[in-house]
Amino acid sequence: MYASIAPMFLTHLECSACGLEHDCSRLQNLCLSCHKPLFARADLTKAARTLTRENLATREKSLWRYREVLPLPPDVEPVSLGEGGTPLLRAPEFADDVDLWIKDESLNPTQSFKARGMSVAVSMAKHLGATKLAVPSAGNAGGALAAYAARAGVEVHVFMPRDTPRANIIECRELGAHVTLIDGLITDCAAEIGRRKADEGWFDTSTLKEPYRVEGKKTLGYELAEQLKWQLPDVILYPAGGGTGLIGMWKAFDEMETLGWIGKNRPRMFAVQAAGCAPIVRAFEAGEKHAPEFPDPHTIASGLRVPKAIGDFLILEILRESNGGAVGVADEEMIRVAREVGAKEGLFVCPEGAACFAALKLLRLAKKIASGERVVVFNTGSGIKYLECYEGHSRNGGL
Ligand SMILES: Cc1ncc(COP(=O)(O)O)c(C=O)c1O
Ligand SMILES: [Zn+2]
Repeated sequence: MYASIAPMFLTHLECSACGLEHDCSRLQNLCLSCHKPLFARADLTKAARTLTRENLATREKSLWRYREVLPLPPDVEPVSLGEGGTPLLRAPEFADDVDLWIKDESLNPTQSFKARGMSVAVSMAKHLGATKLAVPSAGNAGGALAAYAARAGVEVHVFMPRDTPRANIIECRELGAHVTLIDGLITDCAAEIGRRKADEGWFDTSTLKEPYRVEGKKTLGYELAEQLKWQLPDVILYPAGGGTGLIGMWKAFDEMETLGWIGKNRPRMFAVQAAGCAPIVRAFEAGEKHAPEFPDPHTIASGLRVPKAIGDFLILEILRESNGGAVGVADEEMIRVAREVGAKEGLFVCPEGAACFAALKLLRLAKKIASGERVVVFNTGSGIKYLECYEGHSRNGGL
């Protein structure tokens, strides 16, 4: 499919595993040779001519301020709801003796960081001619896709596990998506899309199975660097399901080094998972390169109920290369810590975000984070979407 004749910074797609180049002027999913995720590659020398650390300050607040390093051609209007530009807040009360910051992603459209990936993915899918999108979702990705697809005027089909938080299901329906509830996990939802997409003419928008959600998520890394005056933190704690934000940030750090914006130092990257669904934690501890499917996964943190991630090898590489690690957190601890964060810092965090705060405590006890180190925790979404999970615990009295 022919795309655009406008000058592009995007040059090609490259397989993250085998390096094979793919054409970026048509819709693509996985590598046609090894079926691993594709990464967008841009001409950063050209991008650096107009995108500078200094002129960023004068640009719009949304993630489209990084336009030159995003894949959409310059003459195409993005599908945007004002995503990105979220606050980085100090968390002095929770911090104990570390220099703790919260990147509060609950302020995005549809109240989660999934908006970043979907704004870029839907912009590109529409530009390249997709008319029907399908996604398996633990909750927040479906809501975000439904919003951006509505904005773009394309049809959307969301497949969710039946026990996804109600707010996510209702939100998708109200945004005009076709919602199918599946008795199973997100991997079962993905399999259903895989079976039907060719017949239905759906473009599969699963995370890392198309190349541009990770491009949106990488802006987390750009923003963090800018907000910290181009000094990356010592440690990043990120709640990893598919791991797209972690992979995206790592890509952003490399791009920023090429742009001459930051040096070689990288944060120690930690993937935080639920103890009841911790494939990356297991594989990291076992020294494996891939993470086998986690059996019988269960957790209230629906975004972390991802028993098998297609980018597993990328996540594990980043954790090892950065000298970071992987931490599993029990559900009860997420609920308890969410209330502590709420009372101390004034943020009603999602369980996935709470897991990162709980992981901080565990890593401090294990002496993997030293006093005085600068730590950034991601609150990836709003607690408001998880009322039944918090309410259940309040009603049951305890905590
Ligand atoms: C609130 C929240 N946090 C974290 C995640 C995990 O994100 P990722 O797939 O980028 O690892 C999700 C995914 O659904 C989510 O909804
Ligand atoms: Zn490949």
